[in-house]
Amino acid sequence: MNINRAQIIAGNWKMNHGPHEALEYFQSIRKALPESAGIARKKLVIFPVAYCLTSAIQAMAKLANFELGAQNVHWETKGAFTGELSASVLQSMEVHWALIAHSERRQYFGETDETASKRFLQAAKLGVNIIYCIGENLKEREAGKTEAILSAQLSAFSKAVLSLGARVKADVGTRMGARTGTSAETEAKGKSTSIWAIAYEPVWAIGTGKTATPEQAQAVHAFIRKSLEKKVSEEFAADTPILYGGSVTPQNTEALVRNEDVDGVLVGGASLKPDEFAKIIKAAI
Ligand code: PGA
Repeated sequence: MNINRAQIIAGNWKMNHGPHEALEYFQSIRKALPESAGIARKKLVIFPVAYCLTSAIQAMAKLANFELGAQNVHWETKGAFTGELSASVLQSMEVHWALIAHSERRQYFGETDETASKRFLQAAKLGVNIIYCIGENLKEREAGKTEAILSAQLSAFSKAVLSLGARVKADVGTRMGARTGTSAETEAKGKSTSIWAIAYEPVWAIGTGKTATPEQAQAVHAFIRKSLEKKVSEEFAADTPILYGGSVTPQNTEALVRNEDVDGVLVGGASLKPDEFAKIIKAAI
């Protein structure tokens, strides 16, 4: 982790937990987490199922210092898109994060780099904080294609970032400012301070119990940062948080986040139990 970048500990509940369990979850995790400066410096985010994004849960999450996010957002504001979620409505509900291009969306629901980019653009324009997922599968890793796959996924992402034009430059400065204590000043000027993070989630590590080693994660994260430098800009690459995801546990978190280019974790299974997730958060401080 590098203190000049946002540090994010995020939990993706996938299709688990309902509203009742969600309320209990935030009550328990509030008790399990001490108030500490170390925790206050981190962004703690939960991506529950959409039916858990109600105001009572929102309030309870806030008490426990968590922000909420949606597991998917559509590229249009409204319309005939059955089963999709509007980023602008989520913003009005104070749900300020979106997970985009998770490998399960890519694998089971036809998400492509093209549709993911469109979702990213809509969320970015609305000032939503974004975690954009990329990663190779086992076959691709074994065939030595990891960098080629990630590079293609990052090209689509970078093209979308660059299409936002001047706003990218302004935002990078603003987001750097947010880290160094000048966010009030930049917010007063009406600029967005939204975060666009990349989550590196090797598909072979998701839900399998096989985590990338800290060395593997650092090597890939460094490659991702170099690619962003080439494809977008040096400033953008230096400012973008890169999270690791795939079988993260309380036991392996510390060694993963100790790496310079690992700016946090995106946790699936181990985020479902408040005690386990609290341990991960403490291990990441
Ligand atoms: P896992 O899932 O932690 O259960 O491997 C990670 C994810 O899919 O984001």
